[in-house]
Amino acid sequence: YVLGLDLGTSSLKGLLFRQDGVLVGEASADYPLLTPQAGYSEQNPAEWRQAAHKVLKTLVSEHEEIKKELVGISFSGQMHSLVLLDESNEVIRPAILWNDVRTTKQCREIMETAGDRILNITKNVALEGFTLPKILWVQENEPENWSKVQHMMLPKDYLSFWLTGKYSMDYSDAAGTLLLDVENKCWSTEILSTFSIPQEILPTLYESSGEVGVITEALKKEFGFEQDVKIYAGGADNACAALASGIIQEGAGMVSIGTSGVFLSFEQSDKVNYNGKLHLFSHAVKDKVYSMGVTLAAGNSLSWYRDTFAPTLDFGELLKDVGTVKPGSDGLLFTPYIVGERTPHTDSQIRGSFIGMDTHHRLPHFGRSVLEGITFSLKDSQEMMETTAKRTFTKIVSVGGGAKNPDWLQMQADIFDSTIVTLTTEQGPGMGAAMLAAVGSGLFPDVNSCVGTFVSYDKEIVPIQENVAAYKKIYEIYKQVYGATADICH
Ligand code: XUL
Repeated sequence: YVLGLDLGTSSLKGLLFRQDGVLVGEASADYPLLTPQAGYSEQNPAEWRQAAHKVLKTLVSEHEEIKKELVGISFSGQMHSLVLLDESNEVIRPAILWNDVRTTKQCREIMETAGDRILNITKNVALEGFTLPKILWVQENEPENWSKVQHMMLPKDYLSFWLTGKYSMDYSDAAGTLLLDVENKCWSTEILSTFSIPQEILPTLYESSGEVGVITEALKKEFGFEQDVKIYAGGADNACAALASGIIQEGAGMVSIGTSGVFLSFEQSDKVNYNGKLHLFSHAVKDKVYSMGVTLAAGNSLSWYRDTFAPTLDFGELLKDVGTVKPGSDGLLFTPYIVGERTPHTDSQIRGSFIGMDTHHRLPHFGRSVLEGITFSLKDSQEMMETTAKRTFTKIVSVGGGAKNPDWLQMQADIFDSTIVTLTTEQGPGMGAAMLAAVGSGLFPDVNSCVGTFVSYDKEIVPIQENVAAYKKIYEIYKQVYGATADICH
């Protein structure tokens, strides 16, 4: 057995797999999100630890056999969130999370002092969510806390520390800190000295399937394990989700729709240059990377639309007739910028729109145009991958909310002009984490064979050429809306 612990923003989920890739158990525990003031988003690492404790206890009591037969544990985690420990390994202040936006000033400072070097070394530009701006915020605003810092890590690494007593971070998560020299696979001494960060506070770097250590004697006893359970470093949630979708070779893409939406592409090498317009992060697969763009309000646009226009309908009822409306929603166009946009505009001020409303438009037109608008905004990322890196997608795996509705899946095939595939069972990043433990412990000779055993595809949706042609025209119009409406919002 292998266990993947996925440390998310609202809960921790444990997924227990047999080595033949079959899910045999799951457990989860929630924790609160703290918002002490607008734009702040924090969590207490102790809550993650308690959640992991509860999940492990549940799994061990429901599956006694793992006391003898659990080979390894690994992690998937929310990216970027800053955890700081003092000399007694106590947490100094609540973790500042990836979706906390207090650091606009620090991002500006970083880009003004070292923008080019940051981009060259880390392959990314500074965004509010990333870790380095959070460190600068603590330095500037809480010098007393900063003076106590002996160890810095990301959320999943805090669980690894709890289980093993070792300080670790894998490359896929380290890539989101803006402190990693991606090409040379080490902490960037240049960035560290520019921003007065002592290298000693940073953890040891590992491959995602690298062994960090074994579970401490105390916890081994606490959970009743009869053998030394090994702990593997794990990966960033996006990297683990990509692994669990089989995104491990060139031409493979993934579109994932939750509250926000992600378009992600496998990249053979970090030499690909998107000039910071897309994120470029190390993969959980050794020496590979992935690029990704983010639509801030994907599922969120759909929920907003439902809550505002049809609060009594569930999503099935809301979207039941969108298939009766032709591609292009009879001239109705939606842009999903209701909370600003990340890729490609990096603009927190822009807002969304419905354009082209006509007296004959009814709810199915509006519903369809919302789905199309969300998909167009993800196409912006795909288009950058295609034009900048000459990427062609042989398959795009659709996961999350976008994979649940057959009409939306067809829209994705038609708008992305690519075959869309769905997964037979979708377990998300927690499965990617379990796969890392399986590879790390030698149950599989390599990642490819593990993917072959764990990941299987279900439906294949092929683009309809007539729709592809129609969407090409409408997408050209969609792209003009941002420029034409930005001034109204700024
Ligand atoms: C990626 C990002 C989010 C978090 C969510 O840059 O900020 O996808 O990883 O957990």
